[in-house]
Amino acid sequence: MKRILFAALVLAAAGRTASAQADGKALYGENCAKCHGPKGVPPQTMQKKFERIAMFDAAFLTKHSVDSITKVITKGKNEDMVSFKDKMKPEELAAVARYVHDLAGQAK
Ligand code: HEC
Repeated sequence: MKRILFAALVLAAAGRTASAQADGKALYGENCAKCHGPKGVPPQTMQKKFERIAMFDAAFLTKHSVDSITKVITKGKNEDMVSFKDKMKPEELAAVARYVHDLAGQAK
């Protein structure tokens, strides 16, 4: 009985650390920056390759909330913006969406 309780506590603690560690910036760097650019401005090559690629700036913010960004990352959009549903956990999808929202907020 004690052992089961202990295992449950360890699992609960592990769950907490995992969500606290969902690092939007690192996830963005690994998964998004190559197309969208490290600061949310896609490099020229990507702008040429993907005409509709999103730029994360003030105009973007007027049309997107953290929730709508999370939706795009989860479901994907058209053929080039793929879904990340199978690559990230829900808390990671939310963390990267918050990071994109912050990036857009910092853009000039
Ligand atoms: C292979 C290149 C590529 C990668 C990698 C990529 N994107 Fe995109 N993304 C695109 C393109 C292209 C579009 C434009 C899609 C369209 O509107 O047709 C887009 C659009 C978006 C949009 C705006 C959608 C809208 O409704 O206007 C968001 C938000 C976004 N991407 C976030 C991300 C995030 C976050 C990641 C990483 C988890 C990511 N993208 C990874 C190419 C990419």
